[in-house]
Amino acid sequence: MSTLLEEMQTEDIDAVLAVIESQDDDDAEEAEPGYRAIGGCLDQFVIREKGEIIGVTGYLTPPACEQTYWLSWTYVDAEYANQGHGRKMLTALIEHLKEKDARMLFVNVSDYVDDAPEEGDDGAIYAAALHLYQSLGFKIEIMHPDYYDKGESQIVLSLRLSDVPAMIMASDIPQENVTVNFKAVYEIADTDDAYSFAWDDEGEQLFSIEDVRIGLDDVRDKGGRAVFLSFPSNYLGVAEVLIAAGFKKSGVLPDYYEDGIHDQHFTYTF
Ligand SMILES: CC(C)(COP(=O)(O)OP(=O)(O)OC[C@H]1O[C@@H](n2cnc3c(N)ncnc32)[C@H](O)[C@@H]1OP(=O)(O)O)[C@@H](O)C(=O)NCCC(=O)NCCS
Repeated sequence: MSTLLEEMQTEDIDAVLAVIESQDDDDAEEAEPGYRAIGGCLDQFVIREKGEIIGVTGYLTPPACEQTYWLSWTYVDAEYANQGHGRKMLTALIEHLKEKDARMLFVNVSDYVDDAPEEGDDGAIYAAALHLYQSLGFKIEIMHPDYYDKGESQIVLSLRLSDVPAMIMASDIPQENVTVNFKAVYEIADTDDAYSFAWDDEGEQLFSIEDVRIGLDDVRDKGGRAVFLSFPSNYLGVAEVLIAAGFKKSGVLPDYYEDGIHDQHFTYTF
């Protein structure tokens, strides 16, 4: 691994939270429980300047995927921002992931604009991140308007880390008859009133339009604004039922589960 990145330790948590807080207080508050959880510093890295922690980045490993990763909290202390540290830190992380044969890296960014920024600041706190990711080769895959809150979108980007595979024909991907059923509705972390359905594939048969409507009624009763769901692209019949119940396709995270099996996203707006 690059000598720039240092594995984060539990004793680094306070310094890392101070780095995040220098950019955004709310983000520091949201990040804290994750770091303090058992194993919360695993696969997270810090960078230092004169011995002091000035940056943090890392990755998360989603279940049921083949060599797919999500970029986790990535921050450079506001005092050191715009001096090239973020680019060096991310380049080193990408190299580290390539060394472990990673295939795909995804990241979520918000387009939040602080309407009361400090003087000389335009309030678009994630604009530098979006610019940096794109300049490192990330591509915008999905834009979910009003995701985090009304007027605050989620932008999902992807970066291919391994060689691009030879073209895969849809007919090469086995379509799966699945028995997905919904377990509960829940408010998505870091959002205001955006919901999703928890599901497993241990049902008797695939959920029906009526099952989807029961979930939607439950979200409506809870004051939800929208429902965001995603399923593997080779699950037979799922898209048809969701669309018949009023969901719209909102995009695809390509090659998410494995090459040729994407994560198909759906949105329902009340
Ligand atoms: C994103 C972040 C980690 C980058 O760290 P950094 O050390 O400032 O990054 P660098 O100096 O290497 O690069 C910043 C790039 O953004 C550009 N930039 C800065 N402000 C910008 C803005 N308002 N709009 C567009 N681009 C901007 C800089 O010009 C530079 O690009 P360049 O190298 O092509 O000139 C840091 O800005 C940060 O902590 N931001 C807030 C938290 C955040 O958004 N994290 C990611 C959440 S997904």
